[in-house]
Amino acid sequence: MKLLIIGGNGTIGKKVSDHLSRNHEIINAGRTSGDVNVDIADSKSIKAMFESVGMVDAVLCIAGEAKWAPFDALTEDDYDIGLKSKLMGQVNLVRIGQDYVNAGGSFTLTTGILADDPVVMTTSAAMVNGGIHSFVKAAALELKNGLRINVVSSGLVEDAVEKYESYFPGHNPIPMKKVINGYVKSVEGKGTGEIIRIYDNC
Ligand SMILES: NC(=O)c1ccc[n+]([C@@H]2O[C@H](COP(=O)([O-])OP(=O)(O)OC[C@H]3O[C@@H](n4cnc5c(N)ncnc54)[C@H](OP(=O)(O)O)[C@@H]3O)[C@@H](O)[C@H]2O)c1
Repeated sequence: MKLLIIGGNGTIGKKVSDHLSRNHEIINAGRTSGDVNVDIADSKSIKAMFESVGMVDAVLCIAGEAKWAPFDALTEDDYDIGLKSKLMGQVNLVRIGQDYVNAGGSFTLTTGILADDPVVMTTSAAMVNGGIHSFVKAAALELKNGLRINVVSSGLVEDAVEKYESYFPGHNPIPMKKVINGYVKSVEGKGTGEIIRIYDNC
């Protein structure tokens, strides 16, 4: 299959992209990295990316930002970062991208454990993750041409432990192999409307 991976050069995206490249043709996208450039916070940029790439069999988004800060410090503009990038960026990828994915193809979005088990400073990040979970369940009911949509929600991944461990007290890091398999399940499986949770709460 021909797969378009937004964020395919990131911490998670690179591992997923390398794994899927064994059996599929990969196009990686990022703001400054990858084969094609896109800023998902800008719907015109998303449209331009699909026009340049053409039809694909699956779109994976492993990108999207939200501002982390204490609740009493987050401004409306701070919330807009997460709304424009991680939430509407991924919604717009599906809204615009539905015309560029071949029949029977799929979308795979990315959220994270904050949707279900937030830590401090994540009122914005947790909120947009939860919004995407609801979006995926609803969009699965209406996508045409057999298009599927799922979201991978993992805990803190092993490769990001050094950077983020202090923000996630007591959380068990998720091995990269398990994270990769969440994306494989979404792309190569047949499920739709699924929130693929990869947590280790024990
Ligand atoms: N790290 C974790 O433990 C973890 C766990 C669960 C969920 N997540 C979520 O998974 C996603 C990826 O995390 P990560 O740790 O792999 O992040 P990362 O290392 O910062 O990589 C992010 C990737 O996305 C691209 N990107 C960022 N903003 C973009 C935008 N507006 N438009 C297009 N591309 C953009 C970046 O490329 P450019 O710089 O070239 O744009 C980069 O390739 C994030 O949404 C994160 O919240 C992460």
